[in-house]
Amino acid sequence: MASSKAGPSAADVMGALATIKDPDLGRDVVSLGMIKDLKVDGGRVSFTFELTTPACPVRDRFEGQARDAVTGLAGVEAVEIHMTSNVRSSAPAGGLLPGVKNTIAIASGKGGVGKSTVSANLAVALAAEGARVGLLDADIYGATIPSVMGTRDQPPFDPENQKLLPVRAHGVDLISMALLTSSSQEAVVWRGPMVGKMVTQLLSEVLWGELDYLLIDLPPGTGDAPLSLAQSIALTGVAVVCTPQRMAVDIAVKAVAMFRQLNVPILGLIENMSYYECECGRRHHPFSTGGAKTASVALGIPFLGALPLDDSIREGADSGRPAAAVPGSPEAEAFRDLARKLAAQVSIRAFRRLPVIQVR
Ligand SMILES: Nc1ncnc2c1ncn2[C@@H]1O[C@H](COP(=O)(O)OP(=O)(O)OP(=O)(O)O)[C@@H](O)[C@H]1O
Ligand SMILES: [Mg+2]
Repeated sequence: MASSKAGPSAADVMGALATIKDPDLGRDVVSLGMIKDLKVDGGRVSFTFELTTPACPVRDRFEGQARDAVTGLAGVEAVEIHMTSNVRSSAPAGGLLPGVKNTIAIASGKGGVGKSTVSANLAVALAAEGARVGLLDADIYGATIPSVMGTRDQPPFDPENQKLLPVRAHGVDLISMALLTSSSQEAVVWRGPMVGKMVTQLLSEVLWGELDYLLIDLPPGTGDAPLSLAQSIALTGVAVVCTPQRMAVDIAVKAVAMFRQLNVPILGLIENMSYYECECGRRHHPFSTGGAKTASVALGIPFLGALPLDDSIREGADSGRPAAAVPGSPEAEAFRDLARKLAAQVSIRAFRRLPVIQVR
């Protein structure tokens, strides 16, 4: 007698899940290899849904869609989904940073637009999403990351590997020239005539370990640091920060052109100090509006988001507790949202290199 508990076949389940499309990667989640460890036991179905980043913007939507798709199959009684993530690497094998899956430079054309503030908050936000994150302060002469991140700790030296270890703050592993210059012997080694060489040293002389994302806060402009970075490692890409004024956007456009010349992928444009919200809840745009979005459309690059001009962002940066480290605040949410959009762009880059997985 046929069992009344006959459930779906594994192929039925995969077929149902293949109707779910990743909006960023433009393909179905089965052919992208996101469904793992499928088990079908009569009417009980369980599987792992492996996202491309813990900072996945559509995590909850995917889980709901997967549950609905499988529950809708004949004979299904229970569905167990284990949501997990595995950040794919966009780095070439045998590069300068073996354990680092993705390196993301944060740049701007104009100075003072909030690059370091955005880099630090993005790093904290990505770590809060569950990613392993590093932050390199590549602004050799104007290093501000330690004060924004609230640390003055000296990076310890690991005698076994003969490398420096990063310092941990707000869940992020960071290195900055400012943490080295006051120290004794190493500081001498790090001083030198060439900014570009120092940036490469900060990358290679530090034991970064396993990281999903290494964010690199660049000095303003288009000088030695970005040039040397682009030449020494295959950057996953660069996110360019600007403010809304016409002039600032124009300079950001020039920075984009420079990175394009260096063959560095552009992950998107971030508009900082975009608006401020007064107590009555109205949004004001003291530096104009819409310029960065228009520029990103004209350049054919993603617009990653607009951040408010906000006292708590400045205070957070001044006090060493970045706004993104205050859970539940609207500013933290704004940075989390930006972090997810950036992570999605990184996933797109990594997945362009992967072959389609054939189902059945
Ligand atoms: N969204 C924001 N709201 C309020 N203040 C901000 C915001 N973003 C940055 N700031 C403040 O603006 C100032 C400049 O920011 P920051 O140092 O991050 O800019 P930068 O682009 O890294 O500068 P530089 O070009 O010198 O490296 C800091 O005082 C910072 O606290
Ligand atoms: Mg800076």
